[in-house]
Amino acid sequence: MERKIALLTGASKGIGYATAQILAKKGYELIINSRNTSNAVKKLKEYGTIVEGVDGSLGDDATITALIAKVEERGQIDALLLNHGGPPVKSFLEVSHAEWETYTKIMLHGPLRLLRELTPIMQKQQKCRVATISSFTVKSPRAGIVLSNSLRATLVNALKTVAMELGSDGILINTVAPGYIATQQILDFNQRYADQENISKEEVDQRTIKEIPLKMFGKPEDVAGLIAYLLSEENQYITGQNIHVDGGLITAN
Ligand SMILES: NC(=O)c1ccc[n+]([C@@H]2O[C@H](COP(=O)([O-])OP(=O)(O)OC[C@H]3O[C@@H](n4cnc5c(N)ncnc54)[C@H](OP(=O)(O)O)[C@@H]3O)[C@@H](O)[C@H]2O)c1
Repeated sequence: MERKIALLTGASKGIGYATAQILAKKGYELIINSRNTSNAVKKLKEYGTIVEGVDGSLGDDATITALIAKVEERGQIDALLLNHGGPPVKSFLEVSHAEWETYTKIMLHGPLRLLRELTPIMQKQQKCRVATISSFTVKSPRAGIVLSNSLRATLVNALKTVAMELGSDGILINTVAPGYIATQQILDFNQRYADQENISKEEVDQRTIKEIPLKMFGKPEDVAGLIAYLLSEENQYITGQNIHVDGGLITAN
């Protein structure tokens, strides 16, 4: 089988990990990143592929430098997933200037530097697939999550721009927008609303489920399946899109 290499950031848990699992099953060699990759590396190796972990925040320059070096050692990259955890659930007046700086680094500077510095390898190959995970709130912003609403919208538009500029090099770039997916992120998110409103997390969960036309939370694999498709060469003609996987939520809003 032809050697395929994928770099996935934010891939130790949740949707990023589920995507790494699909690519590992397809035989991709993986470089994965998060602040602690050791468990995920161990589990992904069970699929019989080569897996290397790079620990560190996407907001740290040293992490980005280390990830670029790992790809340069191999001289090849076929798939790049730019992902990280969600920023804090805070309203505009609760977010400090230092937090704007921290999350701008994690959600914009890190991903964009990684993409920019890996572009020469992608151009030399004349192919690569790139994806990021955004959120349904990019299209339908919610109060209380100003960091997510604003920084994700910037990344989505930056990547649409790059998709237009680099399409002629065979570089296809898309973003996938989850609705409510049952991961640690949604547990934390709904717990925060429960604490704010002094009600139980179960009540917030039920209220959320009522909003979703399919009347259930999604599973990480529901989103990961689409991302893995967009990152593979089966995807020949989709680029510059922000595709929702949200059980119909965005249509209902
Ligand atoms: N789940 C949902 O309902 C939902 C809805 C809309 C949008 N999203 C967004 O989709 C993305 C993935 O969500 P998820 O539910 O899969 O989240 P998750 O289960 O919390 O997983 C996040 C992943 O990112 C890693 N990570 C966290 N901070 C990082 C950093 N600074 N640098 C590098 N890696 C970092 C985490 O590992 P470590 O802890 O080891 O760093 C983990 O592997 C997030 O941006 C999330 O906000 C999720």
